[in-house]
Amino acid sequence: MEEKVSYDFSHSACRKDTNAEKYTLREELFGTVDVEPAWVADMDIDTPDFVLNAVRKRLDHPIIGYEEVPDSAFEAQCSWLEKRHGISYKRADMIYSHSVVASIRVAIEAFTKKGEGVIVQTPIYPPFFHSVLELERKFVKNPLKKREDGKYAFDIQDLKSKIDSDTKLLLLCSPHNPVGRVWTREELLSILEVCIENNIVVLADEVHSDLVYGENKHIPFASLSKAASDITLSTYGVGKTFNMAGFAMSSVAIHNQELKEKFLKAYNRIHFAQGSVLSHVAFEAAYKEGEYWLEDLKKHLYSNYLQLEELCHEYNEFLKLTPIEATYLAWIDCHGLELKDKKIREFFINEAKLGLNAGISFGREGSGYMRLNFAVSSAKMLLIIERLKTALENRRKSLGNN
Ligand SMILES: Cc1ncc(COP(=O)(O)O)c(C=O)c1O
Repeated sequence: MEEKVSYDFSHSACRKDTNAEKYTLREELFGTVDVEPAWVADMDIDTPDFVLNAVRKRLDHPIIGYEEVPDSAFEAQCSWLEKRHGISYKRADMIYSHSVVASIRVAIEAFTKKGEGVIVQTPIYPPFFHSVLELERKFVKNPLKKREDGKYAFDIQDLKSKIDSDTKLLLLCSPHNPVGRVWTREELLSILEVCIENNIVVLADEVHSDLVYGENKHIPFASLSKAASDITLSTYGVGKTFNMAGFAMSSVAIHNQELKEKFLKAYNRIHFAQGSVLSHVAFEAAYKEGEYWLEDLKKHLYSNYLQLEELCHEYNEFLKLTPIEATYLAWIDCHGLELKDKKIREFFINEAKLGLNAGISFGREGSGYMRLNFAVSSAKMLLIIERLKTALENRRKSLGNN
């Protein structure tokens, strides 16, 4: 295992002169470059040195031709999944994909026909429902319910009432973006029961599974039982965990041979090929050397979250933070601002000078919310907190509540 060192997340490299989407799209999305971006789900935190070093080392060889993903890369991923999440996969169960969203689309093609139903649990990472709609499937909406403690839960009654004989696939987001839940075994079992009863295949998107806080434990859907693994395909990757989205490499894990063949039939219609040589070595290095870095990262992220929590508490007449169990995406209830969605967004852009995702883009159930990405260095977090505090204080004053 890697040597224990303490990682420092106080500062991060400047991305303004790179093609980082988070920065280049500011004008287009927010109408100004004068916002600190806290939207798209990558981190303003340096990708770890052991990943970059592996890439540098590969570049010592002067030929970058077609290469297979080495078995050792997927074996490193399998060991990681077994050790950290208690699920056992073999190399042969893993399929290369450049993008989780592409894998979701292939799964929709593989397991449903046009017009058939795909269940999506809103509010949700938008490509889930965009994929369903763009592939002309029926969008079966099963909104999450908000509990009294501010956390979200599945609505199993609603789910049962929405299913008919044409409902073929459920897109499960676990842990969930944007509501930050780590689903418990009981909750997952309640979904499993319904899916088994109705012959529904489950695509479990588990890309956020390494970013789980405190006592919460990620339970892979496929690990629930043999029956669960028989109906599940799972997506995993290093993109979120190690801030490596730009390497564009993830995997789809499938135990059931029949399911795998069906998936591969749709997959092979598109030429996914083997991806980038540099991604292969980066992916392997992350899984082999990333444990200590990840533990330090999670502590850092959680301390950022606590700062946001404190601020929301101080201004709780305006903002309520959804308690987080996983991910670095804060789901903020802004109903207290008493503004329409467009105006809430404008408040964050013009008053706080922050570029966040509007909750409404995650489905109608996200109305009145904003999503803030707090995966930033300590220095940047301070800036985000200061800007938000100034905007909230000014609002308080303007309403005469000080
Ligand atoms: C739940 C979830 N799935 C997939 C993705 C994107 O994965 P990829 O870039 O590999 O398509 C994201 C990114 O935010 C996500 O939150």
